[in-house]
Amino acid sequence: MKSTHSIGAISVAATLLMAGAAQAEKLTLYCSAQEDWCQLMARSFEEATGIDVDMTRKSSGETFAQIRAEASNPKGDVWWGGTGDPHLQAAEEGLTAEYISPMRGELHPWAISQAESAGNRTIGIYSGALGYGYNTDLMAANDLPEPSCWKDLLDPIYKGHVQMANPNSSGTAYTTLATIVQLFGEDEGFDFMKGLHANINQYTKSGSAPIKAAARGENTIGIVFMHDAVKQAVAGFPIKVVAPCEGTGYEIGSMSIVEGARNMDEAKAFYDWALSAEAQALALEVDAFQVMSNMAAPSSDLAPDMSALTLIDYDFAKYGSSDERKRLLQKWDEEVSTLPQ
Ligand code: G6P
Repeated sequence: MKSTHSIGAISVAATLLMAGAAQAEKLTLYCSAQEDWCQLMARSFEEATGIDVDMTRKSSGETFAQIRAEASNPKGDVWWGGTGDPHLQAAEEGLTAEYISPMRGELHPWAISQAESAGNRTIGIYSGALGYGYNTDLMAANDLPEPSCWKDLLDPIYKGHVQMANPNSSGTAYTTLATIVQLFGEDEGFDFMKGLHANINQYTKSGSAPIKAAARGENTIGIVFMHDAVKQAVAGFPIKVVAPCEGTGYEIGSMSIVEGARNMDEAKAFYDWALSAEAQALALEVDAFQVMSNMAAPSSDLAPDMSALTLIDYDFAKYGSSDERKRLLQKWDEEVSTLPQ
């Protein structure tokens, strides 16, 4: 009897283990691209593999902070999307895992150099240039001149008409801060951010919120990635997209696997799939007009033509480093955000 019992117990335990293994076919995805794209990626991966995806969308800086807060007990498996700088900082701080995907040979060199500069703890999935967009109806209704440069936005005539995100939560806004510092130098760059602050009506949490507000007629000018402004124009809103005359910065939107991920096999499966031309083609289904990192991924004529823009030589190693990102954000908190408006 005794031995029958223990055999029974062993077989129940084995069944539970197998059930546990079956349940382990899941993935916790932290996503920092647009919500509709995040949803589409999650559902399409589920369909392609049968692996259940639990997806949360948060901005790049917020996701970075969450992964750091969870480091001793990681809950996320893959962080997909969002600007590259906080992914690089996560890599430097050992919060993300080294992985070399077999898909790497299909990628543009800029996506691979992002990986190589971070000990293979992150990789580029898309690229897009920064700029701004404005609501042409509101410009006309308020009798405002149409701006074309960064420095135009400092004109007091635009007071209360400009919106950008907070660079602590948003990768878009951190890219803006780092771009302005690289374009104009640190002193003049911070003077620019202070002058801009006087015209800002709200710092949003998410990077694309200012142009969505402009599309709805609740804000006039939104400082965002140009592709986010194009998306609103394509949807039929009266949004004009500006590539600022002084030149501009850009992002290498990135992907990383969380160090100590509970579902490491599923994380790698998602990572490889997300680098395929087929998965990257999904971007166009939700009007995400970034340049994708797989060389065979399709592009749209509606997408901003990066080769026609004056792009700065954005120093990702510097502005994605832990010390520099912390220093710039602290300086912005202390010297810009606290100023009266
Ligand atoms: C939008 C853009 C992405 C960018 C992301 C950053 O979704 O389309 O290209 O990576 O913003 O989001 P965040 O909220 O961190 O600025």
